[in-house]
Amino acid sequence: MSILITGGGSGIGLGAAAYFAEQGARVTISGRRAEKIAAAEASIGSACHGVVGDITIESDRATMIEAAVSHGGGKLDALVNNAGNMYRGAITDLDQASLLDLFNTNVVAAMMLTGLAVPHLETTEGAVIFMGSIHTRRAFPGASPYAATKASVQALTRVLAAELGEKQIRVNCILPGAVFTEINQRAGLFDDDEARTRLQSMASLHALGRIGTEYEIAHAMEYLICAPWTTGATLDVDGGLGLGLTKG
Ligand SMILES: NC(=O)c1ccc[n+]([C@@H]2O[C@H](COP(=O)([O-])OP(=O)(O)OC[C@H]3O[C@@H](n4cnc5c(N)ncnc54)[C@H](OP(=O)(O)O)[C@@H]3O)[C@@H](O)[C@H]2O)c1
Repeated sequence: MSILITGGGSGIGLGAAAYFAEQGARVTISGRRAEKIAAAEASIGSACHGVVGDITIESDRATMIEAAVSHGGGKLDALVNNAGNMYRGAITDLDQASLLDLFNTNVVAAMMLTGLAVPHLETTEGAVIFMGSIHTRRAFPGASPYAATKASVQALTRVLAAELGEKQIRVNCILPGAVFTEINQRAGLFDDDEARTRLQSMASLHALGRIGTEYEIAHAMEYLICAPWTTGATLDVDGGLGLGLTKG
């Protein structure tokens, strides 16, 4: 199996790349930081090929697809639109350029990359996965920019599933709950310790009483990549955080 995972240099994307490589897949990852991509390649081994690039740049997107097809033995079975950024702020304080940047990465670039992947996925009757978020299930004050981008990918999953069904391409969306990664730190919101403490403090909000791991998100990706009659689905993979658990 040949899989392209954007944002594979850290967090959920890195965990998923390692997981799929362990399962025997040929995995191509992309990200902007060369050192992260090189470290991922070194730790995962030859099943993983890294492309240093930015999904918001048209020529980089083309390079990612070409590299994935080449590394995958001339084919692409799945595109995981995992790369994403966080931007938070009160609605009264939003910076338009930051908001547009966020939409450009989290929504526009993923849509454009998906379009480029379609001719290859048509050949393999492959799959596309978008990464939504718990933020469309639970409301976090100050997170309207991020939630809006994740609502967008959740909505367009259904449209693209309808649009690409006749090509036998399946399109699904995962809504991860809380997984400790570097997304908030990269956004300058918290340092590593603060981010970990904040996430751990959310454990009791989960029906299962704990935050998740990147491997648990990877299992859901595997299911959606392989499920032959599942398309247009939104899969909550959140330990029950989205249930809005209320005790008492
Ligand atoms: N962690 C959670 O609790 C959680 C919950 C719900 C949803 N998610 C979603 O899961 C996905 C993965 O996030 P994560 O939590 O694993 O965070 P992460 O570790 O920060 O991973 C995001 C990756 O995206 C890459 N990226 C960002 N902008 C990019 C661009 N323009 N071009 C190429 N790559 C880019 C980053 O690498 P570079 O900066 O090097 O490019 C980074 O490796 C995101 O879509 C996120 O919204 C996460």
